[in-house]
Amino acid sequence: MEDNDLVCRHLQLTKADIVKVIREKELSSFTEVQDETDAGTICGTCVGDVEEILEEELERRRSNSASAENQ
Ligand code: FES
Repeated sequence: MEDNDLVCRHLQLTKADIVKVIREKELSSFTEVQDETDAGTICGTCVGDVEEILEEELERRRSNSASAENQ
């Protein structure tokens, strides 16, 4: 998935929009992402993609903190 791919067509949210909110607010669950963005509250089609983006971000966060610990 590319950063400018439209993830939620109802709310016009791209992958980059969702990643930005996750990073800025340090979100770690789908419910938190949904509370912040409303993604998936209209039709639910985008829920799987939002979860996938969140998982990628959590993985990135884990590997960043692991590499910080190794320094
Ligand atoms: S595509 Fe996200 S709520 Fe419909």
